[in-house]
Amino acid sequence: TITAVIMAGGKGERFWPKSRTNLPKQFLNISGNKSMIQQTIARLEKLIDISRIFIVTNELYAELIRAQLPLLPLENIIIEPIGRNTAPCVGLASLIIEEKYPDSTMVVLPSDHIIQNEEGFIKILQTAVEVAQDNSNLVTLGIKPTYPETGYGYIESTNQVSAINGLEVHKVSKFVEKPDQDTAQSYLEAGNFFWNSGIFVWKTSVIRNYIHELMPEMHDLLQTMRAAFQTSGRNEVIRAEFHKMPDQSIDYGIMEKVSNIYVIPCIFGWDDVGSWTALDRINERDEHGNVIKGNILNLDTKRCIIESDGKLIATLGVKDLIIVDTEDVTLICTKEKAQEVKLLLKELRMQK
Ligand code: GDD
Ligand code: MG
Repeated sequence: TITAVIMAGGKGERFWPKSRTNLPKQFLNISGNKSMIQQTIARLEKLIDISRIFIVTNELYAELIRAQLPLLPLENIIIEPIGRNTAPCVGLASLIIEEKYPDSTMVVLPSDHIIQNEEGFIKILQTAVEVAQDNSNLVTLGIKPTYPETGYGYIESTNQVSAINGLEVHKVSKFVEKPDQDTAQSYLEAGNFFWNSGIFVWKTSVIRNYIHELMPEMHDLLQTMRAAFQTSGRNEVIRAEFHKMPDQSIDYGIMEKVSNIYVIPCIFGWDDVGSWTALDRINERDEHGNVIKGNILNLDTKRCIIESDGKLIATLGVKDLIIVDTEDVTLICTKEKAQEVKLLLKELRMQK
């Protein structure tokens, strides 16, 4: 059986003020007419029945998920009382899935990415599942890098390649999470590195063994939880134990430390919509390079991203700005600073 886990507990802070703590990016319509999580599920359902799709999220968002995904079985929503990053999220999901589907192959995905070519995506996932079912492989989907992004993981591929279903599957020599600028630049120039798309495929038993070996404390806690599930309700157990989890991402906690990783290069049009400047890549620009949405009047305005929820935004003689107007907040920011929008939120919290 194939199962899926969607990680949907992130706060999407670089998309403020449209993305808010109580309504983060994955629940918004950034492109198209469905929210990002609705699109993620719709895409996956072409390979995996909704009864085998699980979502791990913060308790703040459980209600939103129920409302946006009414056909998802309630017991498939796994609720974290507190965010502990992606390693505990994956660990807990694999535990819960194993109870129902012993030794399934599990596809792990973010909730808030754009994928243009769904058919290509499904074909690659099917192939990844085949590779993961063989031995104890961990499979990643790699994206050809175009610039030295420091916010991604990098996957070094070897020339040990096999062709499966007409796709290349490379053995990986190393996985490096979020390198510094110079390192990212050297990886880009080397030519044999891929960005980690954040989509992973492995058997639940395999990831659980790696957790046992590399994150033993988390393994012990998961075992405690498994035992407690026999006598108490699932939510009750999670509420009592989950805060003891280490705060660690799967990338740092597991991927950087293991050797039998494979990567499948993907060309399905991927974007993680990490910050406002992503709109430059995913939307149509007008003849002056602007991406505009809502009630906008602009003259002599170049390469701006402007979005209004209602009010008219009028611009004259400006360039390379991000201007986002919502009911209670207006953001004005240079494109250069798009990654740092979360600093404003931090400052705002300190003032409160
Ligand atoms: N349930 C849950 N709980 N989900 C979480 C949590 C958590 O505590 N923290 C993050 N997530 C979800 C986010 O909503 C997102 O869908 C996904 O997990 C990845 O988390 P990010 O916080 O967005 O990770 P990142 O962007 O810094 O890095 C990851 O993604 C990159 C590609 O977008 C890494 O896997 C990188 O290696 C990768 O290149
Ligand atoms: Mg991300």
